[in-house]
Amino acid sequence: MNSPEHAAVLASAIENKSAKVGVVGLGYVGLPLIRAFIAADYRTLGFDVDQTKVDRLKAGKSYIAHIASDWIARCIAEHSFEPTTDLRRLAEADCILICVPTPLSESRDPDLSYVEGTARQIAAVLRPGQLVVLESTTYPGTTRDVVLPILAAGGKVAGELTVGRDFFLAFSPEREDPGNAQFAASVIPKVVGGIDPTSAHLAQLLYGQAVVKVVPVTSCEVAEACKILENTYRAVNIALVNELKMLYDRMGIDVWEVIEAAATKPFGFQVFYPGPGLGGHCIPIDPFYLSWIARKHGLSTRFIELAGQINTQMPDYVVDRVTAALNEVKKPVKGSKICVLGVAYKKDIDDPRESPSFVLMELLLARGAALTYNDPHVPNLPKMRHHDLPAMASKPLTTEFLAQQDLVLIATNHSAYDYHFIVKHSKLVIDTRNATKKVMKGRERIRKA
Ligand SMILES: NC(=O)c1ccc[n+]([C@@H]2O[C@H](COP(=O)([O-])OP(=O)(O)OC[C@H]3O[C@@H](n4cnc5c(N)ncnc54)[C@H](O)[C@@H]3O)[C@@H](O)[C@H]2O)c1
Repeated sequence: MNSPEHAAVLASAIENKSAKVGVVGLGYVGLPLIRAFIAADYRTLGFDVDQTKVDRLKAGKSYIAHIASDWIARCIAEHSFEPTTDLRRLAEADCILICVPTPLSESRDPDLSYVEGTARQIAAVLRPGQLVVLESTTYPGTTRDVVLPILAAGGKVAGELTVGRDFFLAFSPEREDPGNAQFAASVIPKVVGGIDPTSAHLAQLLYGQAVVKVVPVTSCEVAEACKILENTYRAVNIALVNELKMLYDRMGIDVWEVIEAAATKPFGFQVFYPGPGLGGHCIPIDPFYLSWIARKHGLSTRFIELAGQINTQMPDYVVDRVTAALNEVKKPVKGSKICVLGVAYKKDIDDPRESPSFVLMELLLARGAALTYNDPHVPNLPKMRHHDLPAMASKPLTTEFLAQQDLVLIATNHSAYDYHFIVKHSKLVIDTRNATKKVMKGRERIRKA
């Protein structure tokens, strides 16, 4: 078969839904993506190196709060979803979407080992007529400079496979808003750029079947840069409101009221909220992928560095406010009973990655606090790579428990919390999220931070 034929065969398989979609990395991005393709009537193969996750999925059990176990069980029974740890089966997928982690190394440089490892696994089985799409967030140039050479080298072993002719390669960033039911993967427009026009066309054709709108761009680099722009934009704007929070607080002005007022401007202003620091897999990490590549180009990204500095100092600011609040009632942090509410990085999710709550807890423990936590979505404190906290279980928020605490620190504004109840039974509440804004009784016990 020559090249136009490979592309044509894949295009018609995509259009008539006989193409098998393989997703590598069954995490917060991969599983919702599988759901979008199953909803569009594709059969899917899900790959993960984590045997526990694959076993759970095979047993019809979800490990992500917003993906229902019932749905997984049904898809497994109907064979529309087949999870596996056997990466040799990548050969069976016509379209392979890579959703593996892209963390930072100890020295805060990009750690592309997961992407490279996956590319090598694909290269080992690459066959003519396959489309590979990288979805993991990364710096501009990764698909062409890192993934393509690995695939092309593997392809040669299999007999001179060339991109755009025999196999196809594209980048399409994932846009997820975890915990926000309004934005399922299928309703979020998807930016898609290819290594070459044929790859771009095939990837755009594929996503066009499963998502509401495809936004074609002229290259993988534009698609990669677009994702980093989106996340850097958030990191910088969150840093801005965090800085203003500290300033307005010093001036006796309530930043939350200021933001709500500014948000009424019908043009030229987008609302961002301050918090106890930055969390999640994306916003605290992705901008540093851009800083790293900028340094390679002899430039510095001062906005990103400054935003990083401000956002990472927020937990210290919150702990200063805790210290001041306890001081008002003649108590030191040392020995005070403090309960942190919320260890997920944002409301209504169970994802603790990069959550500022862990930094808050470390700082409070270092000052000798008698520390506990509650999170309705995180029953046990998970072991985190960069944090060393003792094993803890979430404490039930009973009247007695709250009354025993010297201070309750709201770090994550989960909707499941009854803030009237919390304020009513606590001696002192530090609120980093304006979660208690509707609580009128007992406001004298609340301090914003
Ligand atoms: N979580 C989000 O909201 C979000 C949003 C947009 C983009 N992203 C990006 O998407 C990518 C994935 O993020 P995530 O949140 O889904 O991560 P995750 O940790 O939830 O899931 C990644 C999965 O990949 C698996 N994995 C690791 N190496 C593998 C390999 N070689 N082969 C197969 N599976 C492997 C892991 O076991 C894990 O289950 C990252 O680049 C992230 O920056 C995440």
